[in-house]
Amino acid sequence: MGNFEPVIVAFCCNYCAYTAADMAGSMRHCYPPNVKIVKVPCTGKVDVKHIMLALRKGADGVYVAGCLEGDCHFKNGNNKAALRVARVKKILDEIGIEKERVEMVTMSAGMGKDFARIAVEITEKIRKLGPNPVKNISAGQSKLATG
Ligand code: FES
Repeated sequence: MGNFEPVIVAFCCNYCAYTAADMAGSMRHCYPPNVKIVKVPCTGKVDVKHIMLALRKGADGVYVAGCLEGDCHFKNGNNKAALRVARVKKILDEIGIEKERVEMVTMSAGMGKDFARIAVEITEKIRKLGPNPVKNISAGQSKLATG
């Protein structure tokens, strides 16, 4: 596991987390290239099946990054996302996969430095966990069937 470089998918809402990621870049707050950003209109659009699919297709970790509590531009998409992440964690736990591979985080558009810090922390955590045991196996064999 010495040279293991995790692949991490970050579903970032357009309004806060994605802007924060942009700000991190423009302020030269480095974050690992392991983090692959998927821009979504709101984290409320991220479903359980999207997270599961990311894990099945090769991600070692997934996080959903939305607006701060009360600041979602679509009212409560971030709360819905938090519930879905909690549901995924429960499923992972039940099938014997580390639930820490999936997280929900929130931030404002101005928190570029925090975006970078969180990306570093999550990358380090996933690096310690090692490769996702179910990535890249076919849907028929996978415990992570997405329906
Ligand atoms: Fe950012 Fe909904 S618009 S979480």
